Amino acid sequence: MTHTDHTSHGSGPAGLTGGSAEDHGSAGSAHDASAHVAHGAHAHAAHIHADRPGHGPAPEGDSDMAELLDLDAALGATVLADALDAAAAVLGTEPRSIVDLGAGTGTGTLALAGRFPQAHVHSLDATASMLDHLTASAATAGVGDRVTTHLTDLDGDWPAVLPEQVDLAWAALSLHHVREPARVLRQAYGALRPGGVLIVTEMSGARFEPSDLGSARDGLGDRVTAALAAHGYPVTAEWTTALGEACFAPVERHEMSFEASATTAEGARYLAIQLSRNRDRIADDLSADDLAALDAVILALGAGTSEVRTVSGRVVWVAVRPLDEVRPPGEGEQTGRAAADAGAPNVSVDHPVTDREGADR
Ligand SMILES: C[S@@+](CC[C@H](N)C(=O)[O-])C[C@H]1O[C@@H](n2cnc3c(N)ncnc32)[C@H](O)[C@@H]1O
Repeated sequence: MTHTDHTSHGSGPAGLTGGSAEDHGSAGSAHDASAHVAHGAHAHAAHIHADRPGHGPAPEGDSDMAELLDLDAALGATVLADALDAAAAVLGTEPRSIVDLGAGTGTGTLALAGRFPQAHVHSLDATASMLDHLTASAATAGVGDRVTTHLTDLDGDWPAVLPEQVDLAWAALSLHHVREPARVLRQAYGALRPGGVLIVTEMSGARFEPSDLGSARDGLGDRVTAALAAHGYPVTAEWTTALGEACFAPVERHEMSFEASATTAEGARYLAIQLSRNRDRIADDLSADDLAALDAVILALGAGTSEVRTVSGRVVWVAVRPLDEVRPPGEGEQTGRAAADAGAPNVSVDHPVTDREGADR
């Protein structure tokens, strides 16, 4: 059984309803009556960052978003496996305690629990419906007894929910959502034991093939991509400098990608959800003919008659909290039971970065 700790550790402005996967908003749900902080209070912990796309927690009950994340897990399995390999290689020993920051439907949590059978995974998210989904998936996967969910805000004092310092922290497609990523990185540093590893993943772009999306309207895919880019999608982010500034060393950067093809049922559904959501973002930017063609592409994806494919890029950072004590400015050891570890002096170190660009798929 998955453990649930839906304590709220955030204090943000009121949430916002609706919106896309990269929109904002979260409302509490009657998720666990035993939680000692009411979820109604958590409804006020969501953030509005309307100035930037892709920020804030996922909207409650966004089933398309949940399905998209699960499909992303299935189609991006090789990327996940490579990121886990990188973490295992740098850690050297089996992790016992892991935190998944912005766990969503559980892509990372399930992969981590599967790969590291001695580990307990703490899965943090500010959206209750995401954690509900994760809990069910963890039970189905038979790892529920090694997973604890925490309904908590990464813009708050989230390390306080952790019972101990962790060996491994995982932040996949979530760091760009928070209000102050540098603060979250400093907190992650404090939440890790010395020698612990932080894995951060972000998107690095996507392209569609063929360029007419099978519509016979030359360059439609490029116009869709350009219109999305003008709105800031897909949301990409670069964390190498910020990781160094948070005192992680060394920091490796790996470029990876995976393909989703409409010739498989999963790929077709993934593309259909993505293009439908994207259509709504750029409807005003496309000509009427392009929009009609895009609608026909989405229908063809639903009917199983499309051969469109997408290549989705990912960047994975592997960052280590050095064994020799370095304390990032402003954040101490903050995990629930780890305060006793505080007190070592600040010293400066170099922050070597290994850029693995092009070294991976
Ligand atoms: C794009 S999803 C990624 C989910 C998962 N890590 C994965 O790889 O599939 C981002 C997740 O971060 C969560 N999130 C965003 N901002 C958050 C915040 N301030 N506090 C907690 N969770 C947050 C969202 O609710 C969402 O579930």
